[in-house]
Amino acid sequence: MMKVVVVGGTGLIRWQVVGMLRSSGRNAVSAAPVTGVDTLTGRGVAQILKGADVVVDAFSSPSFEARASLDFFTRSARNLMAAAQRTGVQHYVMLSLIGVDQLPENGYFRAKSAQERVLRDSGLPYTIVRTAQFFEFIAPIMGLSTREGRVHLPSTQLRPIAAVDVAAAIAAAVEEEPLYGVRQVAGPEIHRLNRLGEITLAARPDGRRVVTDENAGLFAGIPDAVLTGDDTATTASTCYEDWLKRHPRKAMTRIGAP
Ligand SMILES: NC(=O)c1ccc[n+]([C@@H]2O[C@H](COP(=O)([O-])OP(=O)(O)OC[C@H]3O[C@@H](n4cnc5c(N)ncnc54)[C@H](OP(=O)(O)O)[C@@H]3O)[C@@H](O)[C@H]2O)c1
Repeated sequence: MMKVVVVGGTGLIRWQVVGMLRSSGRNAVSAAPVTGVDTLTGRGVAQILKGADVVVDAFSSPSFEARASLDFFTRSARNLMAAAQRTGVQHYVMLSLIGVDQLPENGYFRAKSAQERVLRDSGLPYTIVRTAQFFEFIAPIMGLSTREGRVHLPSTQLRPIAAVDVAAAIAAAVEEEPLYGVRQVAGPEIHRLNRLGEITLAARPDGRRVVTDENAGLFAGIPDAVLTGDDTATTASTCYEDWLKRHPRKAMTRIGAP
């Protein structure tokens, strides 16, 4: 039976990928520090990869800071890929970000770009799935940007996607041959971040209001079209407003990476 090791990602992504793969008959296992696997130190990595056919790399750095995230992603990637080579992994599927190579001034994006490079240079058969920002990430962004009841958001263009659609794209890549390249996956609609904030508060009013602030937060100053992908992107079907209606407030995840 094909063994697939899914490393990191929000609990949501990791468990949805594992669930989807198990329901199609794969031996999918989850790996994270809580399960005894630490990509940064290499602890538990060789053991979990024993007999693995496919690795899904969906871990993220605990820090957005440029130097810390670069160190985390490159060291972790090297540890995981060296073990994958030793144990004969046949396909390495990496979760990455749309626009990752277009923002060299952004430390987190630069770190993810370096992580992709480590994979391309590793000699492992691979597929990189670059996705847009997750729906589940919008509320945490708003939380980080709130001051005195006002949510400060820039008008940066995003094309957000439901975590379940990201998980489906990852599970599909696992079943396919290595692409030796990049696939982009995004949501069905392009929205500006300040508008996404308004849509969120209209569905879940809590007394806050959005103010447009082009200098606020992680997404300030990112030019149009960088985070939305090009016309080769696969478009997922779930719309943000429909997703908000179907999901209770507690569906929000903890704060993740951009
Ligand atoms: N969030 C987004 O909107 C978004 C959009 C596009 C792409 N992505 C990409 O998706 C990936 C996952 O991002 P995320 O937002 O889901 O991250 P996240 O919520 O911060 O989750 C990080 C994951 O990495 C694991 N992890 C942290 N340190 C680890 C270590 N030393 N060894 C093994 N696992 C470790 C964590 O395990 P524990 O749970 O045990 O701590 C957790 O499962 C990243 O590559 C990110 O760039 C994210």
